[in-house]
Formats: sequence, C-alpha cells, structure tokens
Amino acid sequence: MTTPVRKRILVGVGGGIAAYKACSVIRHYTEAGHDVRVIPTAAALEFVGAATFEALSGHPVSTTVFDNVDEVAHVRLGQEADLVVVAPATADLLARAASGRADDLLTASLLTARCPVLFAPAMHTEMWEHPATRDNVATLRRRGVVVMPPDSGRLTGRDSGAGRLPDPTEIGLLGDLLLDDPEALPFDLSGARIVISAGGTREPLDPVRYLGNHSSGKQGFALARVAAARGADVTVVAGSTSGAGNPAGIELVSIASATELSDEMNKRALEADVIIMAAAVADFRPVVVADAKIKKGTAGPAPIELETNPDILAGLVAARGRGEIPASTVIVGFAAETGDDNGGVLDHGRAKFSRKGCDLLVVNPVGSGKAFGTEDNTGWLLSSAGTETALPLTSKTLLASRILDALAPLLDRS
Ligand code: C5P
Repeated sequence: MTTPVRKRILVGVGGGIAAYKACSVIRHYTEAGHDVRVIPTAAALEFVGAATFEALSGHPVSTTVFDNVDEVAHVRLGQEADLVVVAPATADLLARAASGRADDLLTASLLTARCPVLFAPAMHTEMWEHPATRDNVATLRRRGVVVMPPDSGRLTGRDSGAGRLPDPTEIGLLGDLLLDDPEALPFDLSGARIVISAGGTREPLDPVRYLGNHSSGKQGFALARVAAARGADVTVVAGSTSGAGNPAGIELVSIASATELSDEMNKRALEADVIIMAAAVADFRPVVVADAKIKKGTAGPAPIELETNPDILAGLVAARGRGEIPASTVIVGFAAETGDDNGGVLDHGRAKFSRKGCDLLVVNPVGSGKAFGTEDNTGWLLSSAGTETALPLTSKTLLASRILDALAPLLDRS
C-alpha cells in the first residue's frame, strides 16, 4: 500500500555500477506522488549523469555543499526529509556515514536528517564481508539506521556472491514501510533463524495438470522481507507465487506439492528458531498421478479420487511436543477464513487456534477480493498467552512487521 500523503524523500546515490538502478528507486517514489530529491556522490555521477536524476526527480541535482549556498541546502534537505534512501550504498559511503563525515552534500544531509534512513548496499563480496564494513554496518544499525542485507548473485565481473544491490522494488517497499511506520524495522531479530512457507501448493494430476489455489505468496514474502531487514537469517520455502517480490538476503527453496513442502519444513524445523506456516497448503491430493496426460475420452470426465495431505503445522507442533524439534521453537500459523452460519471469521480462527496448538495464529478474512493476491491485509493475531490483537487493514509489509513485533519477545535468547 503506498502512503497517500505526499512525502519528502531524499534518494542518495553512491558511486557504484548499480547507480543506474537508483533510477527505478526514484521512480517508485515519484510515481507514488512523493517529492523526491536526488543527492548523488561525485563518484555516482561517473556512472549516471546528473541530467537523468534531474529529469526523473524534477529537481536540480548537486553533489557539494557549495552549490545553492544561500539556500543552506546541506542542512535543509536533510532536516526537511521524511525518509532518506541510499541506493547503492558503497563500502566507502557506509564508512563515511558511520564515521559521521560531512565531506559532500549527501553525507552532510545524513547528519542533519532526523527521519528514518534506509541503506541498500552494493559492493563486491570481499568488501561486504570485510571486518571494516561489518563494523560500519553494525555502527549504523546501532544508531537506528536500517541497512538492508545485500542480495546474492552475479556481481559486476564474472564472480558472484553476496553484494548485489537489492531489487529496487524491495528497496521501495521497505522505504514505504518506514513512511507508514518509522519504527517498523528495528534490528531486533539478529541471529534468529526463521523458516517461512509461502505461496500455494500444486497437487499433480498428470504431467500437465494440478489442483492448486489462489495464494500469491505476498504475505509470506512480506514476512521474509521485513524479517531479513530486521536481522533474521531467513529461509523461504515457496510454492506457486505471483508478484510476491524478491526479498534480498534470504535463502529461497522451491517446492510444488504439499508432500514436498512437508518434507522440507520437517527437515528445516530441526535448525529453526521460528517456523511460520504462511503457505496455502492443499488439504487433499489426487490418489493417482497419471504418468501420461489424461485424455478427454468419450465417456466424459472420470472422477478424481483424493486423499488427505498431512497437516504440516499440526505435525510440527506435535513434533515439538514429542521433543523432536527444540521446545523453544516458535511456531506461527495462518488461518484464512470466511464467516458462515456457524460463526464469523474470528470464531473460526479461535477454533482453529485451539486445534492447531501453535504459539501465534494470524487470522485473515478471505473471499470477495480479500487477502489473496492483494497488497493489503487485515485480521487478528491470536497468541497462546490469550491475547487477541486486531490487525487493521494495511500493507502486507506493515502487517508482517506487526506479526514480527509479537513474535520477537517469544524468542529464546538464552
Ligand atoms: O486448516 P487450515 O488449512 O485452515 O490451516 C491453515 C494453517 O495450517 C496455515 O498456517 C497452513 O499453512 C497450515 N496447513 C498445513 N498443512 C495443511 C493445511 C494447512 O500446515 N495440510
């Protein structure tokens, strides 16, 4: 969900090859109607010309505190900003920001800004992993700056590893989250291993057909996006998804059927501090999976015989009860409900919570265009401590942050 109010956003651009991707970040915010000012470093202008940033933002661009001195730009731009996003944040820029330098307009603006600040790093793996950079990132995080984990993959040369700029859409979404709630990304999940299932399962009928569902995976991926930015070590076990995004710094495992998801979750549960079952798991699967494509034939459609899939969530809770996975593992379930003659959405959610035995249950109303595939979500958060918290309609990313707020105190930090 984009913030309807027009906000002032500073986009700082560091001097890395990924500087061209800052153009997509700028567009994300201008298209949402925000007032965007771009402050490149001098090195960034070696990669992308000032004219590009000026055309995209509709404002003049400068790198130094000595332009427009009468307007005291080096103080004013930072002071007036509602959000600062730095993309790409190079190792040098992180170092200058961490040591409080003010040797160009961008670093001076970082010192005067009192709004949320989001850094999206991009550099070679060795630079990202160097103790100097690690220390600088830790310093910035300690001061409340949000430093996204970089993406992994192909770097500028032939090498690949951690250090790619996160997807510009992901940077945009985390910035939107900070505009909605400046406190939404505390660095409070460092070291927590979180396994999240997301998306829908596909139960095969034959080599070309399956039984599936409408899950987009957006809520599960939103949880991954926010948990990774809050410092967690995140694995997403994903079925079919649509437009769910590409969170940086996570491990992504693909599955198709409920059986595959069950195997993967049971294996990963052994090493997890938190398990979140956000996937829409098919309750049933065809008994027979044909080796060859089922033909239309002349006798009309043959009935499909179904058998029951394992309830993965209930199985994980039971495994914890038997001591097969650590007792400290926090288990979170989802309940997509519609009201009916037997009760409303919350009534059904409460009944499911007592049946499943997990620590937290997120109850979402579904149907009539709600929850599936949308950018927004709403519902209730039920906890085993007996609390029931209403979750007002908001972006799936902000809802994810609320869920993680409830989850963080349950983590065993011993
Ligand atoms: O029973 P219901 O499908 O409504 O429960 C939803 C919750 O249970 C979700 O967290 C979903 O991921 C999980 N689930 C599961 N295994 C199933 C069905 C649902 O883990 N076979």
